[in-house]
Amino acid sequence: MKITKICCIGAGYVGGPTMAVIAQKCPHIKVTVVDLNEQRIKDWNDPNTDNIPIYEPGLSEVVAEARGRNLFFSTDVDMAIDEAEVVFISVNTPTKTYGKGKGMAADLKYIELCARQIARVSKNNKIVVEKSTLPVRTAEAIKSILDNTGNGVQFQILSNPEFLAEGTAVTDLLSPDRILIGGDSTPGGDVAINALVDVYANWVSRDKILTTNVWSSELSKLTANAFLAQRISSINAMSEVCEKTGADVNEVARAIGMDSRIGAKFLKASVGFGGSCFQKDILNLVYIAKSYGLNEVADYWEQVIIMNDYQKRRFSNKIVQTLYNTVADKKITFLGWAFKKDTNDTRESAAIYVADDLINEQAKISVYDPKVPKNKILSDLDYLGTRNSSENIDAILTFEDPYEACSEAHAIAILTEWDEFTKYDWQRIYDSMKKPAFVFDGRNILNAKELKSIGFIYNAIGS
Ligand code: UDX
Ligand code: ADP
Repeated sequence: MKITKICCIGAGYVGGPTMAVIAQKCPHIKVTVVDLNEQRIKDWNDPNTDNIPIYEPGLSEVVAEARGRNLFFSTDVDMAIDEAEVVFISVNTPTKTYGKGKGMAADLKYIELCARQIARVSKNNKIVVEKSTLPVRTAEAIKSILDNTGNGVQFQILSNPEFLAEGTAVTDLLSPDRILIGGDSTPGGDVAINALVDVYANWVSRDKILTTNVWSSELSKLTANAFLAQRISSINAMSEVCEKTGADVNEVARAIGMDSRIGAKFLKASVGFGGSCFQKDILNLVYIAKSYGLNEVADYWEQVIIMNDYQKRRFSNKIVQTLYNTVADKKITFLGWAFKKDTNDTRESAAIYVADDLINEQAKISVYDPKVPKNKILSDLDYLGTRNSSENIDAILTFEDPYEACSEAHAIAILTEWDEFTKYDWQRIYDSMKKPAFVFDGRNILNAKELKSIGFIYNAIGS
């Protein structure tokens, strides 16, 4: 089976970049990315590709090359489904905010709506690919909807989880560690798997394309994210031990990371991990474990989240305690709001929770982030529901210029590891601040020695 047309439902952080790279690498395949959100599609079609709705290094160039050639962004979901041989589902699967599994299970309502729409529209056989991270056995649910409500056409469901990390999405997509494709081991399943393998084989070597059964593929994605998040919570737990005992967590991380069995990656102590995946996927895993009665397994993984929440709270407490136990009416400047550098995504960013704590203490927060606009910051805080939006508006000021953001501040907190923060004129910042001038480096990126010699009272994580 040869794929000539792909439809991707969902033009978000996963669907947008993934499809842009598929289109770039497979000029013979027409790729149409559809979304219900008209503004989002309009932004993807902005004549100036620098204005596309997702900031990722290198992405606007990929979009510029493929858009209009074989990459299209549209709100006409039905038409794109109808003409495609393969439909990727790449819609959001947030944690449920209501009912059974509230705060834990994935909300699958968007997935189900997609499945129903695919069933309604399809007039010929299709391969349906789960791209969003989903709880194990979602494919079964999708299959049941498709088989029972469709127009008698045959669907093959594949699980093809995306492992890209934001901020490095384009390089991750261009040279992935592996591509994982899960499908049924039936003749129809094999044809579908091979068809998708052939798409990726246009630029990924075949030995990196793994094929498994559907459940293994779904569970591998949750497991990978749980392991990665667990490493961060482990090093963050050690960061507090280091602070209490006089060790330096960076030195500890370096020493253990050189053990080839442990490896050096994902050992950076921080103010806590954020992003749309880690917390959601672990909560999902916890929910699945509980629903099978595996309470010890559930408790084990839940501890990764508990540690992460603690690390965020510990950071805000440290700011309050160090500033003589009161931050009321004090200007505290946040450098960074995104959940990591090189992205404009703020989902579950530690900055949101640290700001929320400090606003409860009546601090005035000034924010500078090179890619996150004010309305996003305010909507992130409003979403927590801690106070009404007018109070958030009163508590938050945003700046286009980092030096202005820092002027007259009592303290600066680094929440995101943007490279530009290390290149600032820290003497100039020091001169403009209230004294004593405090820095709380939630990412351990600044030069401690230099800052201390300027006169800052410098606090890092884990030393
Ligand atoms: C993650 C997975 O890495 C990716 O494979 C999956 O597809 C989606 O989830 P992402 O959330 O985009 O990707 O970014 P990642 O680089 O994993 O960082 C997640 C969070 O952990 C960020 O807040 C980051 O700052 C933090 N982090 C990461 C640390 O605090 N320390 C580290 O050593 C690494
Ligand atoms: P992710 O990080 O998983 O890509 P996003 O929230 O960035 O998540 O993107 C998901 C996109 O899916 C959103 O733009 C949303 O509008 C879109 N979406 C959700 N449900 C549907 C649907 N039924 N049809 C089309 N698009 C949808």
